[in-house]
Formats: sequence, structure tokens, C-alpha cells
Amino acid sequence: MAELEIDKLTLRFGGLVVLDGVSLKVERGELLALIGPNGAGKTSVFNCISGIYPGGGAIRFRGEDIAGRKPHDIAALGIARTFQHGELFPQMSVIDNLLTGRHPRIKGNPLAEMLFLPGVRREEIRQREAVEKIIEFVELERYRHTPVGGLPFGTQKIIGFARALALEPALLLLDEPSAGLNREEREDLARFILRIKHQLGIGMIWIEHDMQMVADLADRIHVLDYGRTLASGPADVVLKDERVIAAYLGTSKQH
Ligand SMILES: Nc1ncnc2c1ncn2[C@@H]1O[C@H](COP(=O)(O)OP(=O)(O)OP(=O)(O)O)[C@@H](O)[C@H]1O
Ligand SMILES: [Mg+2]
Repeated sequence: MAELEIDKLTLRFGGLVVLDGVSLKVERGELLALIGPNGAGKTSVFNCISGIYPGGGAIRFRGEDIAGRKPHDIAALGIARTFQHGELFPQMSVIDNLLTGRHPRIKGNPLAEMLFLPGVRREEIRQREAVEKIIEFVELERYRHTPVGGLPFGTQKIIGFARALALEPALLLLDEPSAGLNREEREDLARFILRIKHQLGIGMIWIEHDMQMVADLADRIHVLDYGRTLASGPADVVLKDERVIAAYLGTSKQH
């Protein structure tokens, strides 16, 4: 059974057809790159999966239809995502930002919290330990207590990535994680992505515009253009597909 299976996903805003029958699958431990020109509908696919947009069609996670569920419930199932544009709390430290990423996993009891019973403190220690492990994983120990707002852009992007990991996801949705990163930061990111795949076996859908990174890392590529699937398959085949090349050069005008 696929980790995630999307079947004929459609999305409209008024008269605008944003997604038109998109079907795709991700297996456990698979790195699927989702590519396509600006406005193709890539982020909208993520918004449908994570319960932000109401798409039509089926979205199955480990066989269970999750279409139409609330974002919090989707996160609690273990589907984590990064956002294309800032999702962090600038005044809060790296640790505290990552703790917000764990929120759907935290077992809360409001009365116990109010009375601050020993179990609450134990739970908090457990959560902090989990977050410390993620901070080590992305090699940001030196910034753990620093408010994220003052950190360089590339570091903030990695923190956003770490925040999604803090959920201990079963499936990770990455929306242009490399955008704005310099070469060294891209190499770090590539290393983290490969470790997640090989050591943790987490399936990922990875929206990316850096075709070299995609060619180097992705197991398969799914190409969207004007809300439709243009091509899907292994990197060496898809990146040579003339329709894909034409779409990227902006010569594809089918609609
Ligand atoms: N909330 C919304 N209301 C109206 N139109 C929307 C909304 N969200 C997305 N769209 C439209 O849907 C289309 C696809 O947008 P989307 O953000 O999914 O593209 P994308 O492939 O992620 O592009 P980019 O590479 O620029 O991030 C665009 O035409 C966009 O304007
Ligand atoms: Mg986008």
C-alpha cells in the first residue's frame, strides 16, 4: 500500500481551475519531486493534502481517505509540511519554534497543566529532548536559544524544515526548501533529505525548482503544468521529455 495516494484531485477558485484531475502516489521511503512552472498548482496540491484547501477527488494516507479533514487532524496523522513563505515565530527561539511544530503530537490535559502536576513537567522534558535531537540532526545547536527572526535567511529555511521534522512525520511535504539557500546550505539540505530517506524511511513530496538537485536526489518526478499532470516517471526520462522542457521555457500554451 502506498503511503499517500491522490486520485483525480481537482480544485477550483471561482472560474479558475487550479488542479484538474491530478493523480499521484508516494511509497514509504520514496522521494518524489513535484515540479512545474510558477502557478502550475504545486503548492495547491500540498494545501489540499494538508486540509487547507477543499479539493475534490480522493486523498488516501495508508489506505484511509483523509480528504476534507481539518489541518490539525492531518498533522496529527503524521503528515508534516514546510511552507514556501515564512511560517516561523520570529521572536521565539529555535527550540520554541520547533516545539510549536510538535504541538499536534503533545498529549495535553488542560487541568493537569493548570495545576502543573508532575506528569506535565515530565511531558515537557520529553518534548524538549525530542526537539534537541532534531536540532542536532540539522546541526543548529549553536542557535538553539536564539530568536529566529535575527538569523540569516538560509538558516531560517533550515529551521522551517526542522520544524516539520519535529512532528516526527510519517510523510513530509517540502515546499521549495532550497529557495534562497546558498550552495553550501543546499548541500547541507541535500544531506538532510537523503538521511531522512535512508535512515528514517520517511516518504517525501518535494517541490523544487533546482533541477540539478532534483536530478541528483529524486527517485521519481511528477510534473504539473496548468494544474494537470504533464509527465511522471524516473528523473532521466522526465527531464529529457520535450513537453517538460517546453513548459519550463514557457512555450507551452495549451490553455
Ligand atoms: N487561495 C487562492 N485563491 C485564488 N487563487 C489561488 C489560490 N491559491 C492558489 N491560487 C491560484 O492557483 C494557481 C496555482 O497556484 P500554486 O500556488 O499552487 O502554484 P505553484 O505551482 O505552487 O507556483 P509557484 O512555483 O509560483 O510557487 C495560481 O494561478 C494561483 O494564483
Ligand atoms: Mg508554490
